[in-house]
Amino acid sequence: MKLKKSPIDVFDNWVKIGKDDGLEKNHASAVGKMVEYSISSLDQFSFIDAGCGNGWLVRNMSNDSRCIKSIGIDGSKRMIEKAKKLDKKNEYVCSDLLDWKPSEKVDLVMSMEVLYYFENPKKLIHHIYENWITKNSRLIIGIDYYKENVNSHSWPEDTGISIMRLFSENEWKQMFLNSNFKNVYSWKVNQKKDWEGTLIVTGEKL
Ligand SMILES: C[S@@+](CC[C@H](N)C(=O)[O-])C[C@H]1O[C@@H](n2cnc3c(N)ncnc32)[C@H](O)[C@@H]1O
Repeated sequence: MKLKKSPIDVFDNWVKIGKDDGLEKNHASAVGKMVEYSISSLDQFSFIDAGCGNGWLVRNMSNDSRCIKSIGIDGSKRMIEKAKKLDKKNEYVCSDLLDWKPSEKVDLVMSMEVLYYFENPKKLIHHIYENWITKNSRLIIGIDYYKENVNSHSWPEDTGISIMRLFSENEWKQMFLNSNFKNVYSWKVNQKKDWEGTLIVTGEKL
């Protein structure tokens, strides 16, 4: 059996081999829909991208005139080094998401294709609820690897990544509810033949 590598090590290597540029290309469409849903009613907001990769979303968000602060955090040293090289304006932090909290809570936390790389995603959802967001704020996540999306099930073998936790749409929603999130909703975007699409789950801290 092939020895598997930690998610952070695998993505760190993606920067080394130039594969990280594909993240924006592959995720921009679903993330665009998450952004539209989250900020359309906001006059002003501070923002964290949890597992920001090379920081493309942090940079895009900061270009919105309503965005007063945009922060990216990721466990990969190379991802954060690249983000900092491309962008001197915004804040980037290299840390495991479970070990970090912002100095000031924010109005919106977004996370694309990150939460299933945690042994216990419920713990992270709870940590974000308690320590990252203000009252009346939103966490929104996008996920392609989930039970109903059967064609994603081979990814742990395909990628050789050691931690990939498979949950159903309902189980993801339940994790938000268990952490006390209100107005919890989920839906799918960009569905196509043999592909259930990106599962979006969101909730508010009321
Ligand atoms: C599939 S990439 C997605 C990156 C970015 N959200 C995007 O859409 O381009 C997953 C990211 O999660 C990060 N990651 C995985 N586990 C992590 C952890 N425990 N703490 C911090 N970052 C982590 C990886 O380093 C990687 O950059």
